[in-house]
Amino acid sequence: MRFHVGYREEIVLDSGTSVTLRLLHAGDRRLLAEEFDELSPQSRYQRFMAVLPKLPASYLDALVSLDGERNLAIGAIAGERLIGSARISALESGPAEVGIEVIDRCQGQGVGRTLLIRLLEAAAERGFCSLIALVLRGNRAALELFRSMDWRCSLVPDGCGAIEIELRRC
Ligand SMILES: CC(C)(COP(=O)(O)OP(=O)(O)OC[C@H]1O[C@@H](n2cnc3c(N)ncnc32)[C@H](O)[C@@H]1OP(=O)(O)O)[C@@H](O)C(=O)NCCC(=O)NCCS
Repeated sequence: MRFHVGYREEIVLDSGTSVTLRLLHAGDRRLLAEEFDELSPQSRYQRFMAVLPKLPASYLDALVSLDGERNLAIGAIAGERLIGSARISALESGPAEVGIEVIDRCQGQGVGRTLLIRLLEAAAERGFCSLIALVLRGNRAALELFRSMDWRCSLVPDGCGAIEIELRRC
C-alpha cells in the first residue's frame, strides 16, 4: 500500500515553495485549525456551505476523526503550515464524501489537483468505487477540478444551489 502512515511526497510549486504531502492524523488538530483560519470567507463557504467566522469545535472534532481507511485525509504542508487538504469521509450508508480546500494564497498553483489525484489513488487502494462531492453551482474551480479527474464524473443539481458530483471508478 502506498498511502500508509509513512507516506511522504515532496512537490515544488511554480513559486519555488517546497510542499510535503502526507496523511493527516488525529494529532493534526492545530494544523487543521490554522488552515481554516487562512481560508477566506468565500473559500470557507464553498468548502463547508455555511457562513463560518470561526471553526466550531464539533467541526474540528470531525476533521480530526481519521482512521486512515474509511476516513482519510491527505495534507499539503509548506514549512510548518497546512496549505491544503483533501479528504474522504465515509458515511453510515451510501457513497463516501470528498472534501477539499487550499488556502487562498496558495490556490491556482496545482496544489488542489495534486491533492485530489493522490486522494483518488488512495481511495482506489482502499477499494472505494464511488465517491460524492457537494459543490456550489458557481464554484467553477472545484467543478473543473473534479471533472478533470480520471474517474467517471456525473453532475446532479440538488435544486438548492449545489451540485452533487458523483465520481465512479468501477
Ligand atoms: C477548488 C480548490 C481546492 C482548487 O485548488 P487549487 O489548488 O486552486 O487548484 P489547482 O491550482 O490545482 O487547479 C486545478 C484545476 O482546477 C481548475 N481551476 C482552479 N482554479 C480555477 C479558477 N479560478 N477558475 C476555473 N477553474 C479553476 C482548473 O481546471 C485547474 O486546472 P488547470 O490549472 O490545469 O487549468 C480551491 O479553489 C479551493 O480550496 N476552493 C475553496 C474550497 C472548495 O471550493 N472546495 C470544493 C468543495 S469540497
